[in-house]
Amino acid sequence: MNVSYDARVRTLLVVVSLVLSVLIGLLLSRRGGGADARSTPASRRPLIGLSFDTLKEERWQRDRAAIIARAAALGADVIDLAANSNDTQQIRDIESLITSRVNVLLVVPHNGAAMAKAVALAHAAHIPVIAYDRLIPDSDLDFYITFDAVKIGALQARYLIDHLPTPGRGRIVRLHGAKTDHNAHLLKQGQDEVLKPLIERGDILVSHEDWVDDWKPENAKRIVNAALSRVAMMAMKNPIITGILAPNDGTALGSVQALLEEGQVGPAAAGQPKIVITGQDAELSACQRILAGTQTMTIYKPLSRLAGRAAEIAFAMASGKPVIANAEIDNGRRKVPAFYIDVVAVDAGNVMDTVVKDGFHSAAALQAGNSVPSPSGP
Ligand code: GAL
Repeated sequence: MNVSYDARVRTLLVVVSLVLSVLIGLLLSRRGGGADARSTPASRRPLIGLSFDTLKEERWQRDRAAIIARAAALGADVIDLAANSNDTQQIRDIESLITSRVNVLLVVPHNGAAMAKAVALAHAAHIPVIAYDRLIPDSDLDFYITFDAVKIGALQARYLIDHLPTPGRGRIVRLHGAKTDHNAHLLKQGQDEVLKPLIERGDILVSHEDWVDDWKPENAKRIVNAALSRVAMMAMKNPIITGILAPNDGTALGSVQALLEEGQVGPAAAGQPKIVITGQDAELSACQRILAGTQTMTIYKPLSRLAGRAAEIAFAMASGKPVIANAEIDNGRRKVPAFYIDVVAVDAGNVMDTVVKDGFHSAAALQAGNSVPSPSGP
């Protein structure tokens, strides 16, 4: 039988890719539970180590609960620590999780660059590392699971532009997240892609721009206070600033408090064109502010999907099973297999069809809260 050259090449390629995926599966499993690595003795359930930057924001508390619940359902245990936004403490946390003989680490880095050392420490103990939500650049990271922050930034900027009192035109304040957080830079990248042509044309004027240390609402409030007093000195007609590009709900809260002090949102601003304020995370208080009209939009990130998938990937690694990626990202050291989960922009028009329908918040809880925060800050 005369097998054509093409057919022979095709067969060869199939065989090669089969061998490759088995090798990759084996490689990843060796880090997690292979024979000479830190395998899980039959008697012991897989143990997942979870290291958080902080549990300050509502979302991280929800991520934590959802990861622990899914891991338990899979038959794994979790040890978790939070570093209170302190890099030295987070390294100490990682060292103590390694000493506790975890099989795999899930890390939300406070400072991505500082956590490259944590990846090296874990690998020295044959423990694979998954970056959760925030990337760990310049490291031999094993896996990355997140929401697409570039897309989120673009959604925030697009929404702001389309909803300004004069759509497409206005004077805005840009707040960026914590400089230590890789996500803050990805958000800015997505926003820049939308804003750049409008800024170059002079349609959008950025009157103030700054990074918010540790994403703290009080730091955001201070920046917006400064922005408002600066434009007030220009003695122009109120409102002068028509949009605040806030990167998450905590910084949106700080922005709303600053504007409340100036009577530019809330009851005192009745009849004035509405200032557009963006957000992210669909926190309960943010959704309440959106219904009351003090904040304009947020980004809903289905945390239970992120947490559930992360627990499944960690469990697979701890049990020496191959894991499934739907993307990859170059972290400056290697192409890291990744898994991205999609997001939705939310405002008063679709809050019921998104966060309520998904059971993220109940309709009663949204109606219940006092959505006009006190101007004096958290
Ligand atoms: C980002 C995260 C956001 C936000 C922020 C502050 O990395 O993606 O959801 O909450 O941190 O914790």
